[in-house]
Amino acid sequence: TSEVARMKNLNVIEMGQYQVEPWYFSPYPLEYAHTPILYICEFCLCFYANKTQYTRHRVKCTLQHPPGNEIYRKDDISFFEIDGRRQKTYCRNLCLLSKCFLDHKTLYYDVDPFLFYIMTRRDERGCHIIGYFSKEKESSDNFNLACILTLPQYQRMGYGRVLMQFSYELSKAEGKVGSPEKPLSDLGLLSYRTYWSEVLVDMLVGFDGEISIDELSHMTSFTIQDIMHALFSLDAIRYYHGQHCIVLSERVMEAYERFKKKNHRKIDSSCLKWVPKN
Ligand code: COA
Ligand code: NA
Repeated sequence: TSEVARMKNLNVIEMGQYQVEPWYFSPYPLEYAHTPILYICEFCLCFYANKTQYTRHRVKCTLQHPPGNEIYRKDDISFFEIDGRRQKTYCRNLCLLSKCFLDHKTLYYDVDPFLFYIMTRRDERGCHIIGYFSKEKESSDNFNLACILTLPQYQRMGYGRVLMQFSYELSKAEGKVGSPEKPLSDLGLLSYRTYWSEVLVDMLVGFDGEISIDELSHMTSFTIQDIMHALFSLDAIRYYHGQHCIVLSERVMEAYERFKKKNHRKIDSSCLKWVPKN
């Protein structure tokens, strides 16, 4: 495709009660791009170029949650697992929507090799999509996440952390360590670094004695590389009396206290109803 065709092509997306402006190009069919508003059904993710068609669709659409198995539910948060091979239209529509917020050069149209984990919030009208991540059914590199998105209207509210935590809960259930697919976007790297650091600091606070990076990896399902990345970003690796130590500085502890006060949502692993397929 030419550079012209790759320019941001959508003006405004309307989903449920929200209007958002896409950040990047997304390959919606030409007749849908460049309309003043693209209407997207927040339940089936089908898209419409005008309000009349969209309203007609909403009368007919009976979906009140993503078309997959609900594998987690706690309070108003649920996760649905969707097989790209079985729900091609939904998954392709999800990829089109998420490309609006992803600067990657390519988008995977072949959704068959992926599972999609959709996070929703429930109200009296149904389970509304907040974000998702995709995961390769078989990853030779032990990637436990291919793509992650919190819809812009829900960003910076702690939902990215919930998605990341969920991806590691699946890895724990598989008895594996995992890591997100590279390269990560700037926002992806920022968010992961924050998440890894918070989990590790939370584990290390009050811990007195010896712990190896291997043990931390077993406890978290984070890779050794990602643990080292996080600890270096915290400037927490020091060399004392001939051995390496983990030291949490005052600055790190202050950030940790601020994080605790926010009291973010967390996955309750006892509410996960899921067994690995292989
Ligand atoms: N600026 C600075 N820091 C940011 C940030 C931003 N815009 N977005 C996230 N962070 C950091 C912060 O430390 C934040 O914690 P804080 O809000 O307490 O300061 C932390 O990451 C996690 O924030 P959280 O609210 O849990 O994440 P989120 O719901 O906003 O989702 C992404 C994070 C990456 C999923 C979201 O930004 C996104 O969907 N981006 C577009 C898609 C993308 O790039 N995906 C990754 C590549 S596949
Ligand atoms: Na936040």
